[in-house]
Amino acid sequence: MSSTDLDSPAAEADSGGASQARQRAVDNVPGLKSYGTLFGSSPVMLDLYEQIDRVAATDATALIIGESGTGKELIARTIHEHSARKDGAFVAVNCGAIPDELIEAELFGHEKGSFTGAVQGRVGYFEHANGGTLFLDEVTEMAPVRQVKLLRALETGTFYRVGGTELIRGDVRVIAATNRDPAVAVKENGLREDLMYRLAVFPLRAPPLREREGDRELLALHFLDELNRQEGTNKVFSKRSMETLRTWSWPGNVRELKNAVYRAFILAEKAVELPHPHLMSRVKKPVTVGDSMSVWIGTPLADAQKQIILGTLKYCGGDKRRAAKALGVSLKTLYNRLSAYGDEESNPDDN
Ligand SMILES: Nc1ncnc2c1ncn2[C@@H]1O[C@H](COP(=O)(O)OP(=O)(O)O)[C@@H](O)[C@H]1O
Ligand SMILES: [Mg+2]
Repeated sequence: MSSTDLDSPAAEADSGGASQARQRAVDNVPGLKSYGTLFGSSPVMLDLYEQIDRVAATDATALIIGESGTGKELIARTIHEHSARKDGAFVAVNCGAIPDELIEAELFGHEKGSFTGAVQGRVGYFEHANGGTLFLDEVTEMAPVRQVKLLRALETGTFYRVGGTELIRGDVRVIAATNRDPAVAVKENGLREDLMYRLAVFPLRAPPLREREGDRELLALHFLDELNRQEGTNKVFSKRSMETLRTWSWPGNVRELKNAVYRAFILAEKAVELPHPHLMSRVKKPVTVGDSMSVWIGTPLADAQKQIILGTLKYCGGDKRRAAKALGVSLKTLYNRLSAYGDEESNPDDN
């Protein structure tokens, strides 16, 4: 062996830190890199891979901050899978989706008879995640009184089940996520400052897709490649689609991109056509002419239903009774739908 072996690429990779060894090139898409199940080669993503590497080697609480669809849950999962806890459970909880009065019991469990309806005792998410990682999504949506108990559990590593007297010690790594700026959430949304600091021991920013230079095309090609393999097809993006990928800002981030590719793939024979940028938005607007309305091909059924309900209501001048009759549903059903749409509007992350 010659002494130059020490300068071989393998020796360099060793001295270059773990993340370079873990980052992989993706064979089918030239130029694309991946890290675990995360894909992207932009400088901000490479930087994120480094940070994930560092935080995965510790047991520190991490707070992932980023817009909806930027991959916060995927990042949390990747940290877990690269940590010493990888053989333990990864438990994901959406704090924003659990009614306030139930969240404590959901997180910490409850004893039989501890509240109306608690016919049986139940173990909470903290115990389910024992030895593993608990991912608390939309953590800023928790009411301040509930945050106190979470903070205590994080600081002491112990908690009580609701209605319980036995102090339970948990071995759980917590990763939280929010799509709000935490400082603003403290000022305006009732996030406790002490909890924010406790969660953000290691803050990670999930960059929006518009800041990931070159990643839109690479990610789109990757998603298309996955679909082609799954379906045994050989579809390709049209030239105009590649242009759309570059020019559209993708406000819904990777989630929007992935769904757009999927929808266009289903509709394509061979050339995959993404909608023209001016037709692109989270929910494409229907076209209404007099008493008729056309809905875009490929609109998800739930969206089409929403558009028809709202369009009919508008046509009926906002008269809910008339609209319900025209739609063939009860007034109560119409009210339920409208209130669900109202909730969606005030919670755009919920998609
Ligand atoms: N870097 C990425 N590489 C591949 N897929 C991604 C990436 N980021 C996000 N996704 C995909 O986009 C969708 C949204 O990701 P998710 O983690 O749920 O986002 P968030 O929690 O920030 O709303 C998921 O289908 C996820 O698999
Ligand atoms: Mg999410």
